[in-house]
Amino acid sequence: MVEDISQQSLSEGLTTNIIGRNIVYYPSVTSTMEAARQAVERGEGEGTVIIAGRQSAGRGRIGRTWLSPEGGVALSVILRPKMANLPHLTMLACLSVAYSIKAVTGLKTQIKWPNDVLINDKKVCGILTENDLRGNRVRNSIIGIGINVNISIKDYPEIAGIATSLAGETGDEVSRVDIISSLLAEMERLYLTLPDRAEEIFHAWRDSLITLGRNVTVQNGATTYEGMAESVDRDGTLMLRDKAGRLKRVVAADVTTG
Ligand code: BTN
Repeated sequence: MVEDISQQSLSEGLTTNIIGRNIVYYPSVTSTMEAARQAVERGEGEGTVIIAGRQSAGRGRIGRTWLSPEGGVALSVILRPKMANLPHLTMLACLSVAYSIKAVTGLKTQIKWPNDVLINDKKVCGILTENDLRGNRVRNSIIGIGINVNISIKDYPEIAGIATSLAGETGDEVSRVDIISSLLAEMERLYLTLPDRAEEIFHAWRDSLITLGRNVTVQNGATTYEGMAESVDRDGTLMLRDKAGRLKRVVAADVTTG
């Protein structure tokens, strides 16, 4: 039987005060990013979480699609951070996913720059952050999180070589209610530490990156660079040392290990 992840069954176990106090659940939706945008226009408040049983047009970073069948977790969180806290949102989202997977399944994860969560070098979660900025003010920030929970990856040849799922790793079904509850609790805990503990969030994220110190290929559209992933800036920018010894700043791209 498919586990019920509707608003009612999630609300019971929720320990948060802001994130997830208002949950909007759709059995099926195009993308929770679109649904979150509509929720913003309706005037839904900070901490509103849009959750979908499945998405028919899930979106990934840099124009990619995100496969989102029944059995996964697909959600978007609406936040209204201060401008100075913006770079830390994706970092804290990555960490929250990692901590919740560890807490619920015991599995250890790594982070591939900037925000892919991996298990044994295979992607288990992707994060997409979209910000609506007005001048030097953040109108809202929508953090979309997709986790492969109870998905049989071998049924999806297009991702079979690069992705994994929690059920695939543990050999058993994993409760999506537990994952979502833990994830929202971790997100709120870290979010409320900003800006005072931004440095700690940055360090924890940086120390979990498997990308640093590796030779990588960095691709964004038609642009490709190769080099050594040397370090990350406090705003999350990747510093890449190219073959000619020049240091390049990479803000958004897909990184593969070469
Ligand atoms: C990536 O790795 O490229 C980011 C994937 C982000 C997927 C999530 S699933 C919930 C939310 N809705 C979407 O359409 N995308 C994000």
